[in-house]
Amino acid sequence: MTVSDASFNRERPDVYGDAHPKALLRAIQEDGDYLLKLSNEHIVSSDQLCKNTLKQLFRLAAKYESNPTRFSTPLQGKILISAFYEPSTRTRLSFESAWHRLGGDIMSITDRATTGIAKGECLDDVAEMFNNYGDCVVLRDNKEDSINIMMDTLRIPIINAGNGSDEHPTQAMSDLYAIFKWRPDLLEGKPTEDQRITMGIVGRPAKMRTVRSLLKALAVFSDCFKEIVIIHDTSSDDALFSEGQREELEAQGLKLTFSGNLDQELPRLDVTYINAIAWEGDGFETYGSKFNLNASSPLKEDGIILHPLARGDELDKDLDGTPHNWYFSQARGAVFLRMALLTCMVQRAGRVIDVV
Ligand code: CP
Repeated sequence: MTVSDASFNRERPDVYGDAHPKALLRAIQEDGDYLLKLSNEHIVSSDQLCKNTLKQLFRLAAKYESNPTRFSTPLQGKILISAFYEPSTRTRLSFESAWHRLGGDIMSITDRATTGIAKGECLDDVAEMFNNYGDCVVLRDNKEDSINIMMDTLRIPIINAGNGSDEHPTQAMSDLYAIFKWRPDLLEGKPTEDQRITMGIVGRPAKMRTVRSLLKALAVFSDCFKEIVIIHDTSSDDALFSEGQREELEAQGLKLTFSGNLDQELPRLDVTYINAIAWEGDGFETYGSKFNLNASSPLKEDGIILHPLARGDELDKDLDGTPHNWYFSQARGAVFLRMALLTCMVQRAGRVIDVV
């Protein structure tokens, strides 16, 4: 693959190959029920949606991505409450971009200190006010339990946009969307042994919410993966998994193996997922500074790199112009994935699934 092929692929909205829009539409309509079931659902964890629902979401996301200006009004009259109590570039802006692109209005909170929480207001009361002011909430909070507290009071749907070291489900959905955009054949029936892919994940599942959610999402599609290699700092005494996490993933069919040597694994990895931010209490630490990917790394020739970003020293910029760079496509696709999810959650799927 050349660099120009890769650029073409990155921009090409081809999660379903060259499927004619009418074929795409038929596929969405045939299983439209799965999308309609998302109506008013809270999205808290990446394994709460079944395979069919996720596939339908990816199809709708592809429909949006293949014609980004076609649907400018499905969310007209709807208001999003975008509450980010912890820094974010991609998640907040891509959710807000998604909502804007579909014609909705937004109220954005970027600092809890500007709300009544700074004066001791409880989250239940904040949630009660949200019921009056908006139609959907996207919440990022470094406190893991905030989303659960608010859900008890909310009558409008809420999306977990990252809660401490726990989960970041729409990031994982975007990661999967990128993988299936790269390899749409994985969704065409049961993958053969030759089709199944080997994926490496650099990180610590116990403390990285992106990794925790990604592994749960991969487990939903476990028949697409030959092996998942967890690449971690073997000299660390910190727990790699939280209690029961590994057992649950293996029970769902993921074959997990382990390594402390990234370069040794790279030549056989179809997908390398790297991330460095691990959450500890209210703060974060960068993990595994000894792991680095750069243009000289022994990557498989047609292997791709995913990274939820923001990046640090672990991902060199000299990879940006190579065919291995799928992390920018991953970030771009997140807008369309979120457009699809939001449309369904606020009961506007009917306005798009019947339209070519
Ligand atoms: N991927 C991700 O969560 O990035 P942000 O922290 O910028 O939202």
